[in-house]
Amino acid sequence: MLYQQIVDFITERIDKGTILPGEKLPSLRKMADQFDVSLSTAVEAYRKLELFGYVEAKDRSAYRARLPISNNIILKPSKKFQSKVAQIENIDHILELFNQSQDTETAPFGVGTPALEKFPFKLLNRYLIQTLKYQPLSAVGYLFGNGLEELRVLLSKWIRPWAGVSHPSNIIITNGCLEAVNISLATECEAGDIVAIESPCYFGLLHAIHHHQLKAIEIKTDPQSGIIPESLEELSKKHKIKILITSANGQNPLGFTMSDERKKEILKICKKNNIHIIEDDLYGEICYQKKRPKTYKYFDKDNIVTYCSSFSKFLGPGLRIGWCIPSHKAQDYLRHKLSLNLSSTSISQYVASNLLKNEDVLSLGESLSDYYQKNTQIYSNVLENYLGDKVSLSRPSGSYFLWVRIEGLDSVKVFEKAKKMKLSFTPGPFFSATGQFESYLRINCAHEFTEKRHEQLVKLCKLFLAELAKS
Ligand SMILES: Cc1ncc(COP(=O)(O)O)c(C=O)c1O
Repeated sequence: MLYQQIVDFITERIDKGTILPGEKLPSLRKMADQFDVSLSTAVEAYRKLELFGYVEAKDRSAYRARLPISNNIILKPSKKFQSKVAQIENIDHILELFNQSQDTETAPFGVGTPALEKFPFKLLNRYLIQTLKYQPLSAVGYLFGNGLEELRVLLSKWIRPWAGVSHPSNIIITNGCLEAVNISLATECEAGDIVAIESPCYFGLLHAIHHHQLKAIEIKTDPQSGIIPESLEELSKKHKIKILITSANGQNPLGFTMSDERKKEILKICKKNNIHIIEDDLYGEICYQKKRPKTYKYFDKDNIVTYCSSFSKFLGPGLRIGWCIPSHKAQDYLRHKLSLNLSSTSISQYVASNLLKNEDVLSLGESLSDYYQKNTQIYSNVLENYLGDKVSLSRPSGSYFLWVRIEGLDSVKVFEKAKKMKLSFTPGPFFSATGQFESYLRINCAHEFTEKRHEQLVKLCKLFLAELAKS
């Protein structure tokens, strides 16, 4: 699209502060000449910038830069945070969320499905066809237990720069990352054990904890820097914590990426207190930093980390290719995998193996993360422009979610109203073992910000404002 180069030129300068808030932008004529495009293309570019919340037009001849996001609306840790051991009682709302996601009429800001059209689906389809052609039996048989050996060998090499050395015989191919986490919980825990989690925490992990009849305890978590070590230290003195489930890179829903120093600190506390770590590293490939961040597993000298991840967030969740790398009890992990489903899907394993063999798979994640970073900024701009100082927002450094706080809002109550209007988001309490975060919500920013998305997001903001006015 011809207008895109102008959009990129302006947004980059506003984000970097070379164009200041309130500053008048170059005229349409000047932009058209500079980029050698027609005047109507320049008009289209400025229209997009307006839609994305980067500029405002006082009249059609003078566009000015808007403040992209002010520091005082960046989220801080919740002051009302509480930590207690909890049995997760009700998870029915999770089923409802997934049901809602099937309705194509509803705005896709709720469940965390990525934008399917942004995945490298043409490449995947080509590999699928070639695999069926050249390995015609690949879809038919079982690949019992660990999974396809060639895939495990390639994986162990591929993940080495950020997850360290793993022998291929120690890798179990799973149906996605969530199965890997479930196998880990089944192996490591007995009913009633206490699992420490980040707060807020992805509801799928809460679901897994519930499923295994475990108890959860929330660790105070900073929206920018991740788990607060002192909180973990303090709670591990008070309670016998068996497991810490943690996503250090591009955490869902906060989007933080923990520093290597913080990861090492958490490892030290866990080692000291005999806590095993289940690392969910699903978003590592779509962190915004240039170099793929390292994991707990990379720094794990004491064999206390079980590493779980998948291709779901940057190749496609439909492949259902994940992996679990236990640091101990390998046979027990394998037994649990076999008891669940004997084998992960065979054709996907061959396709994943061929992709890893022939493609620079990491670069596919890089282009997606650039897109997610830009999109998350656009959604932030629009939320801020419509909600002003009533809203506080996370500043993610990975993934495609915004964690939003609107003081005084009952997010579960508004969720029901939004549903009737074909609007969606995920209420904050769904991310807590004890129903905290009443006035918080998560917005999925993965989907392209078209006129329709703009309209839906503005409608949602107006609903929030109307609810606040009533309370
Ligand atoms: C933190 C986290 N873990 C696991 C999953 C599920 O991953 P998969 O589709 O690979 O099973 C999700 C999905 O959104 C997630 O956000």
